[in-house]
Amino acid sequence: MAEILAAGEKVKIKFSEKEFSFPAIIGTEGERAVDISELRAQTSHITYDPGYANTGACLSSITFIDGEKGILRYRGIPIEQLAERSTFVETSHLLIHGKLPTQKELSQFSQKLTEHAPLHEDVKKIFSGIPKETHPMATLSGMVSFLSGFYPTSLDPKQDEAQINESAAQLISKVRTIAAYIYRKSVGESFVPPNDTYSYCANFLHMMFSGRKEKYILNEEAVKALNLLLILHADHEQNCSASTVRLVGSSRTNLFASIAAGICALWGPLHGGANQEVMEMLEQIHTSGKGIEDYIRMATEPKSQLRLFGFGHRVYKTYDPRAKVIKDACYRLIEKFGVNDPLLEIALKLERAALKNEFFITRHLYPNVDFYSGIIYKILGIPTNMFTVMFAIGRLPGWIAHWKEMRDFKPARIGRPRQIYTGRLKTDYVPIEARTGT
Ligand code: CMC
Repeated sequence: MAEILAAGEKVKIKFSEKEFSFPAIIGTEGERAVDISELRAQTSHITYDPGYANTGACLSSITFIDGEKGILRYRGIPIEQLAERSTFVETSHLLIHGKLPTQKELSQFSQKLTEHAPLHEDVKKIFSGIPKETHPMATLSGMVSFLSGFYPTSLDPKQDEAQINESAAQLISKVRTIAAYIYRKSVGESFVPPNDTYSYCANFLHMMFSGRKEKYILNEEAVKALNLLLILHADHEQNCSASTVRLVGSSRTNLFASIAAGICALWGPLHGGANQEVMEMLEQIHTSGKGIEDYIRMATEPKSQLRLFGFGHRVYKTYDPRAKVIKDACYRLIEKFGVNDPLLEIALKLERAALKNEFFITRHLYPNVDFYSGIIYKILGIPTNMFTVMFAIGRLPGWIAHWKEMRDFKPARIGRPRQIYTGRLKTDYVPIEARTGT
């Protein structure tokens, strides 16, 4: 459990000439905060922080980000090292259990994932009632919620550590199978059962593409690229979906339901849905014949609702370290697979133009993880509407780690923000016949 590192200092806040002091908190990397948990009790004020840009909602020992320097570490390990040397399964263990596994722990964890890969026949039947056109993220969140019905012990709020770890392994394994089956169903193909001799990523490609795109299934480069993308997405501290998982879980909701909520939060185009938007934007630029400068102009016009998807980040004010790794991987894959994708060229030109543009420079907007990830997914044969599902598979260990950390934290309090009411003052009820419509 994370410890509050008391700085021994007090931060003084003055209200109408009266001074109050609040403890300072300093994180292990020197991040500073003011502990305002007694603010309302002492001063009758609450804080106002739309979008929570200045609010630390928890203490966490999972992931560290320095947005000014472009640093990202899981449990202290730099993302670049994990991207180069780890696998998604090993990184999942690191996030969920707090440390890199020994050989024995890794084998046990992998064995659990293999055991849980097949779907119960009744789960498969649920697919037949879902319209073919349903967005894959809707199906994924629904199926994850339904899974709790197959594991009734997961509903017990008093679950012990071993039971939670079992639920975690069930989720990590089954979400992969569900994702592959969502795709098979969308293309009208029968489900392919998992093959327990394959690694996590190879098995996913097998369940997705057996009988369709043999070239990518047991191709070492494809498996490596998929591992890389999933590792890079595995956690990102208190983002919208991880915060959702924590908030939903704080009401003692089971892990499956909390993760289903996280999947829904991820779906939005400003969060995980951005990877689908990026690909559609690049394709639109390609097919419309409109210039890159036109798109940038439209995205930067005053009051424009259009955004340059895959650009900007709440925390990074420099190049997203994940985008750097993905961009390099894109080049490698394009060369290995001999693909000639005009969209990469468009993305590179778009990036160059944006990085020279005053609007993006002054707002510190740089490419984020979603800018190049879609190009890799496309090379692997994954359709655009499945991109956010791929993000969800990757983010799963992070969500689970956050859910566990939230659950273990003491004092355990339900997440419940306050508000500043701006509506009408007390107004009496008017019977319908007397209402004038004003
Ligand atoms: N294109 C054009 N303008 C932008 C963009 C963009 N991609 N991102 C931010 N801005 C502008 C925004 O209009 C605002 O301008 P002004 O100061 O004139 O009002 C300013 O920059 C600050 O934007 P914000 O929306 O207040 O910033 P935020 O920190 O609340 O939002 C963001 C962060 C990621 C939602 C935003 O940058 C964005 O919408 N980016 C595009 C969507 C995207 O790529 N999302 C994926 C994020 S990475 C994956 C993940 O972790 O979710």
